[in-house]
Amino acid sequence: MTLEVLDIESLDLEARGVARREGKVVFVEGALPGEKVRARIVRSKPSFDTARIEKIIKSSSQRVEPGCPHFGMCGGCAMQHLDAAAQVAIKQRVLEDSLWHIGKVRPATIMPPLHGPTWGYRYRARLSVRAVRKKGVVLVGFRERRGSYVADIKECRVLPPHVSNMLLPLRDLIGAFAQPDRIPQIEVAVGDQTTVLLLRHMEPLTSADITLLREFGERHNVTWWLQPKGPETIHPLDPADIDKLAYTLPEYGLRMPYRPTDFTQVNYEINRVLISKALGLLDLQATDKVADLFCGLGNFTLPLATKVASVVGIEGSSTLTERALEAARLHGLDQRTRFATLNLFEVDVQWLRELGYFDRILIDPPREGAEAVARALVALNTDERPKRIVYVSCSPGTLARDAGILVNEGGYKLRSAGVVNMFPHTGHVESIAVFDAL
Ligand SMILES: C[S@@+](CC[C@H](N)C(=O)[O-])C[C@H]1O[C@@H](n2cnc3c(N)ncnc32)[C@H](O)[C@@H]1O
Repeated sequence: MTLEVLDIESLDLEARGVARREGKVVFVEGALPGEKVRARIVRSKPSFDTARIEKIIKSSSQRVEPGCPHFGMCGGCAMQHLDAAAQVAIKQRVLEDSLWHIGKVRPATIMPPLHGPTWGYRYRARLSVRAVRKKGVVLVGFRERRGSYVADIKECRVLPPHVSNMLLPLRDLIGAFAQPDRIPQIEVAVGDQTTVLLLRHMEPLTSADITLLREFGERHNVTWWLQPKGPETIHPLDPADIDKLAYTLPEYGLRMPYRPTDFTQVNYEINRVLISKALGLLDLQATDKVADLFCGLGNFTLPLATKVASVVGIEGSSTLTERALEAARLHGLDQRTRFATLNLFEVDVQWLRELGYFDRILIDPPREGAEAVARALVALNTDERPKRIVYVSCSPGTLARDAGILVNEGGYKLRSAGVVNMFPHTGHVESIAVFDAL
């Protein structure tokens, strides 16, 4: 394949440099905006080419030494070669560009990015396991960036240090099992008092395997959970550990119990910042009635309940709404909270009306966004509308689409928007947007 000298214009969210050659887009792995590189075209499609750097002719001032020795090979991170502040600036631009190109909206103000720790932040992870018989090793880690093999990583700087330090001991542990090749995956959930490791095993474990698990658990302060079949089969190795996993929200005096497969935000420290920010932006009054849509296990609902007259949390998973209700009871907040389980992708204005009037609405959907909710909100009469909507998003594209509906079809005003640095060194963009009813 041909060698080309390319000027890199921008970065996509997989952290590939974007260049143009005779009008055609070329994605260059590892190249940064402003750089001139000599690159080899490795794939050619009708609408774009992909290329690999052979030499950086002119380097970007924002290029930094990656913090992790496995960067480039491991698929866990994509942007470590870019200065942390520049990563956030790129995500900010992606947000603004999406809002404009997809939604045809511009926020009146851009909020400064919300910052948290850039290393050791990842409190949730799904690690793949692979016993490589030929080499006589067991690999435990993320997938490789190219292809589907498990990356041979000995440490990981985005995992909390105590979890990173377990990666090699975990190899030895699985290697000593009766059937190491029947263990495909270990999920990690770091709580306030313990770290849960959820072991997926395709065959029953032997009593010797269980003894090894217990010894490992004691040595590393780990609580083992097991998953012999589908997700519904998860259970703690020791039944007494069932309620041990939780995270705390000290600002609101809350401790949120959860199970290792429940949805929780990956980066707990920035989650705390995000909750404060979202509640601040909602501009709450003590008499307010608030709806928290896509409420999960009540991450925003319970903090909201400490501030306002009533909150309704709505969510698609009954496991999560039950968990949320249980937590509300535990904290004496159940008088002010109500939870409902519902598919929010299929709601309409009649449903929203029947739910009653809300002064404020918080929306925190999955990547698919909240189109049906946005359409229901714009179909309300002006006197039925919430005065303010705060939308927390993990996908700028769907946020932009929904913002377009709220603003261009419904006359809401996009007051402000900004990014939340929830996933440093990866291409994921978390953001927050504030809409006012006019
Ligand atoms: C980004 S999470 C936010 C959860 C919660 N707000 C939090 O901060 O932990 C999105 C939530 O939407 C829920 N969800 C996904 N699809 C849904 C649907 N169609 N209807 C209702 N909820 C859904 C998921 O179960 C998940 O809890």
